[in-house]
Amino acid sequence: MNSPHTTTEDFEWTDKFILGYRPMDDMHQEFVEVVSKMLQASDKELAGALDEFAQHAKVHFDLENQLMEETQFPPRDCHIDEHAAVMKSVTEVIALVREGQFEIGRSLIAELVHWFPSHTDHLDSALAHWMCKRSLGGKPVVLRRNLKLR
Ligand SMILES: [Fe+2]
Ligand SMILES: [Fe+2]
Repeated sequence: MNSPHTTTEDFEWTDKFILGYRPMDDMHQEFVEVVSKMLQASDKELAGALDEFAQHAKVHFDLENQLMEETQFPPRDCHIDEHAAVMKSVTEVIALVREGQFEIGRSLIAELVHWFPSHTDHLDSALAHWMCKRSLGGKPVVLRRNLKLR
């Protein structure tokens, strides 16, 4: 059966996700767009949507890993490990979805929807503060007014 919505929740951009460091905020808005697209995908479209997510995730995680390594961000190891764990699951799940195991793909998408807010709150926000502190000498002040970044 071709059911586009096996995950019940909609995943939308909210200004709660804004961290105040633009390169990461832009990347996070793209993350939300790509995940929303996966939530809408039919079974036939699912492997392609997961591929698109994998491409996004690689660029997204590479950017953050590079920022952490270049600036010697002290707690970088667990953050880099978490990115690697997500990439590993995505690669494994894409192979299973290609064999027709769509429910495993849907479960991964649901997990990503839950993973993102806590990863952003706990790990990405610390990196964004660190990056702003380095360039501006202070933590970013974020005024949240339901702004769309683009
Ligand atoms: Fe991120
Ligand atoms: Fe991250």
